[in-house]
Amino acid sequence: MPVPLFDTRTPVEPLISAIEAKVSEVIQNSRFILGPELDAFEAELAGYLGTSHAIGVGNGTDAITLVLRALGVGPGDEVVVPSFTFYASAEAIPPTGARPVFCDVDPETFCVTPETVKAAITPRTKAVMVVHLFGNVAPVKEIEALGLPVIEDAAQAIGSRTANGRAGALGTAATLSFFPSKNLGAFGDGGAVVTSDAELAEKVRMLRFHGSRDKTTFELIGHNSRLDEMQAAILRVQLPHLEQWADGRRQGARHYRDAGLGELVDLPVPVDGCEPAWHLYVVRHQRVDDLAAALKAAGIGHKIYYRVPTHEQPAMREYAPANELPGTAEAARTHVAIPMSPVLSREQADEVVAAVRDAGLGRPH
Ligand SMILES: Cc1ncc(COP(=O)(O)O)c(C=O)c1O
Repeated sequence: MPVPLFDTRTPVEPLISAIEAKVSEVIQNSRFILGPELDAFEAELAGYLGTSHAIGVGNGTDAITLVLRALGVGPGDEVVVPSFTFYASAEAIPPTGARPVFCDVDPETFCVTPETVKAAITPRTKAVMVVHLFGNVAPVKEIEALGLPVIEDAAQAIGSRTANGRAGALGTAATLSFFPSKNLGAFGDGGAVVTSDAELAEKVRMLRFHGSRDKTTFELIGHNSRLDEMQAAILRVQLPHLEQWADGRRQGARHYRDAGLGELVDLPVPVDGCEPAWHLYVVRHQRVDDLAAALKAAGIGHKIYYRVPTHEQPAMREYAPANELPGTAEAARTHVAIPMSPVLSREQADEVVAAVRDAGLGRPH
């Protein structure tokens, strides 16, 4: 039985008629930008996460640029960011005028640690961007203790929880992506900045609309980056189901554990105190290319996402760190994502585990 890498269709299927009705309502109302659907979604999203403010923007990459600019990050500044992440986490930094400074990750969690961040801090560091990669949640409070503002790139982690609150409600501000395959996905592009800092929220609100509060006076050189009414309306129908979908992802991870996957590969390790809503379920093996070939032959969806880490990408050459990033190199060399979705069944997990076992690659180390 083939198992897809992810399944965005099945969870949303029962909501399609409600979504169609909402889309129709937006068309009837003829309000498409900065209207009542966005206002309502922002309030509902902030309520879900436990932040005071949410600001809908065009996508998750813009969300990072806007929040950095709102924090006053600019030319001459540095922003610490992991290299083992989707390229956009770092790509969003240079448009502010600041330099990305790459730090390492713990290959067991795929997240930054207080030690890896500390090693990258210099007198020019203006902010630290942690990435809650694959749904795991970096230790924000411990990193905040280093004395700098912490931005959470929570693009992959909406629905994840920690003892200190939800991913997205832990740092100075967080950024979200509603790219269709994300834990909460729009039917197009979308993103948000969330924060409990009123001044920062107001600044992001201005920056997303040309640096203006009232559309008449333009106080800042801003951007044009809004979450549109259609996407906000579609996200409003889905948001009440997010927690159940996140639980489904947690259940999927338990299915893998119960099916004995941990004897065959290194499983992702949740950061202390975190209950990840795994966006991607990423395992590691020293013979990962052989594993990928066996999964392909068995019809099991899989993907090696970040084989070339961000600091080695051609566009990042001028920001390449002088030091080695050993955790990043290890994660890049050994990782592979296997099927994960809110509806991953025990039967599907058994199928994946059987394919891994049949690959006959021996223990992960
Ligand atoms: C970790 C991470 N950061 C940032 C982004 C950028 O989000 P977007 O595609 O909405 O710009 C993504 C996803 O695409 C992501 O996975």
